[in-house]
Amino acid sequence: MHLEIKSDFLVIGSGIGGLTFALKAAKSGTVTIITKRGVSESATFYAQGGIASVWSKEDSFESHIKDTLDAGAGLCRKDIVDMVVRGAPERIQELISLGVEFSKRPISAANGNIEELELDLGKEGGHSKRRIIHATDLTGKAVEDALVNAVNADPNITVYENHIAVDLITHSKFVAPSDKEMVWGSYVLDKSSGTVKTFLAKATILATGGAGKVYLFTSNPDVATGDGIAMAYRIGADIANMEFIQFHPTCLYHSKAKSFLISEALRGEGAVLKTKDGGAFMRRHHPMADLAPRDIVARAIDFELKKSGDDCVFLDISHKNAAFLKDRFPNIHRKCLEFNIDITKDLIPVVPAAHYTCGGVRTDRDGATSATRLYAIGEAACTGLHGANRLASNSLLEALVFAGRASLHAAEVVKNTSSIIPSIP
Ligand code: SIN
Repeated sequence: MHLEIKSDFLVIGSGIGGLTFALKAAKSGTVTIITKRGVSESATFYAQGGIASVWSKEDSFESHIKDTLDAGAGLCRKDIVDMVVRGAPERIQELISLGVEFSKRPISAANGNIEELELDLGKEGGHSKRRIIHATDLTGKAVEDALVNAVNADPNITVYENHIAVDLITHSKFVAPSDKEMVWGSYVLDKSSGTVKTFLAKATILATGGAGKVYLFTSNPDVATGDGIAMAYRIGADIANMEFIQFHPTCLYHSKAKSFLISEALRGEGAVLKTKDGGAFMRRHHPMADLAPRDIVARAIDFELKKSGDDCVFLDISHKNAAFLKDRFPNIHRKCLEFNIDITKDLIPVVPAAHYTCGGVRTDRDGATSATRLYAIGEAACTGLHGANRLASNSLLEALVFAGRASLHAAEVVKNTSSIIPSIP
């Protein structure tokens, strides 16, 4: 049995990048999404921290740009950083319009009465201002749920769950090799029937996430196996910066905990990294101490562990009000309790773990790759935003901005492409 499914846009992956692209592209054509497990299963779903955006009057685009460039250790593309940072507030508004309920805090009037609510802004490593828009510590779930609801309601979008992309279909496989490869779609394994289906499209979008599962210890879900990057590599598309794998400083260290992140937002609210003897050590490593960029904190922990021979370090936020902690970090509080760790009283054992693939399929400002009709968005892409080390909470933001731009670019390509398979001479 040979099955062939055709649409204008083929989106591989169903995290924030893929779903946002699909919703926008569906305004100008038919969209097929394939995803290797359930539609929500993605790194996005597990994102805790939030989305970085200049929001408060005390903040500025210049400051967010500088923090991104500093974290990226001189290897970011400045024009991309500028574009993404300035595009953030509009993208946040779009998510709010879609129904994402970000956490809010009351603004008090001079007489002490509560006048209205405003978005609560968190802080994370490398940020000089509070600018992390979040939904408690379950930001990814809040965003993914809203996007999935919108996708399910869109008649122009069809989702194929439990379908794994195997390889890209290229012009040169059927016609003749050329300097610039053209992509026609993807061969896809339907896990339930065991058949390989042919998905053809005028534009193919890799929103397949990163490759964290290459590492034994990672914060990533099992689906983060880098297959989109590998497929692009196999057709000769440009890949860049794969050596820059970001290690998150604080994954829960417990024999029964699998890939559970202790968000950097805890350090944003005052948590302090300590060695077993209770000594805080980050000030010895960087002037920003516990809120230094992520690569610096992860290396500092590694240094301390090698020096002491211990298995982990500890995060201490027990000095904060217990009610505040339960309200701000309900997920982390609940999950740690499963392992008999009460974050309101106990030290939290943590270690660094592979967290984010800064490199990926190289794209231009519109998410277009070096192959015609192939786009990459989100962690699968290397847009130039992150350089050698991504600034915290810039990843969901990057996916939103590039999904929007790529959808416009790809819509033009689709409009000007009369047939998925060009006439073969
Ligand atoms: C975190 O919550 O610490 C992770 C945020 C991110 O990876 O940007």
